[in-house]
Amino acid sequence: MNGRLKGKVAIVTGGASGIGQAFCLRLAQEGTAVAIADIADARETVDLIRRDDGVAWATRCDQTSPRDIEALRAGVTETFGAADILVHCAGIYPMQPFENISYYDWQRVMSVNVDSAYHLTQAFLPAMKDKGWGRIVCVASAAFHGGVGGCSHYVASKGALIGFARSLASEVGQYGVTVNLIAPGLVRTKTTESGIQQEQNWFEALRQQQCVKRVMVPADLAGPLAFLASDDSAFVTGQTLLVDGGWRFS
Ligand SMILES: NC(=O)c1ccc[n+]([C@@H]2O[C@H](COP(=O)([O-])OP(=O)(O)OC[C@H]3O[C@@H](n4cnc5c(N)ncnc54)[C@H](O)[C@@H]3O)[C@@H](O)[C@H]2O)c1
Repeated sequence: MNGRLKGKVAIVTGGASGIGQAFCLRLAQEGTAVAIADIADARETVDLIRRDDGVAWATRCDQTSPRDIEALRAGVTETFGAADILVHCAGIYPMQPFENISYYDWQRVMSVNVDSAYHLTQAFLPAMKDKGWGRIVCVASAAFHGGVGGCSHYVASKGALIGFARSLASEVGQYGVTVNLIAPGLVRTKTTESGIQQEQNWFEALRQQQCVKRVMVPADLAGPLAFLASDDSAFVTGQTLLVDGGWRFS
């Protein structure tokens, strides 16, 4: 353990798998008590953390539901105390050409990826302000910077998150709370392997367009998250940290 975040309490949405799981493992290594909020069973993440003597707790939480988020806030506070770090990682990325996107599809993506940031921040920001210390990290996407066809609702949702985080940063910096984003390029997770990978070899195409000539894995994002969650980044706020192996859009 590095212990850089000993005594802190973190909430990670989407921590049951993929990038969120890598975030949870790293935060626990840094000494954070980790609360995992996911609609899926997060037992695997909890077991991995406890196996290494870390501290973890998980609850089923749909981040589109204000009621679930209030239950999450109450559960975390009772279990560990008020949260210091909020990592808004859970998100969905259905691949659909624009003309196939129904208004329901559009709203669903916005609800899971963007409205959740509103509900989560409303729930967890007040205690951070009271403590005079807080870290909010949202997961955006490098796709926003170049645009990617076949998922315009998804890319729009990540752009909205960037606007939200930048604006919130300017309101809460005075209370010792920073708000930043990590924007990953394509990461190999179970979801990307079974979903967007299906029709074309995106991993290989992106690997060739990146400066770093290998496919990104969730652990590649853990260091940047640990930095943004720590005191080392106290003067960094409203920023989007692109972690994409130097992806060149072409
Ligand atoms: N994998 C990539 O290539 C990539 C690239 C850029 C950005 N991202 C972003 O990173 C984040 C994680 O992606 P991933 O590839 O690890 O995905 P993933 O599908 O492996 O994990 C997402 C997790 O979020 C959970 N989840 C989904 N909807 C939820 C809801 N309503 N409430 C609570 N939990 C919910 C899922 O159960 C799952 O455990 C997403 O926001 C995604 O947009 C991923």
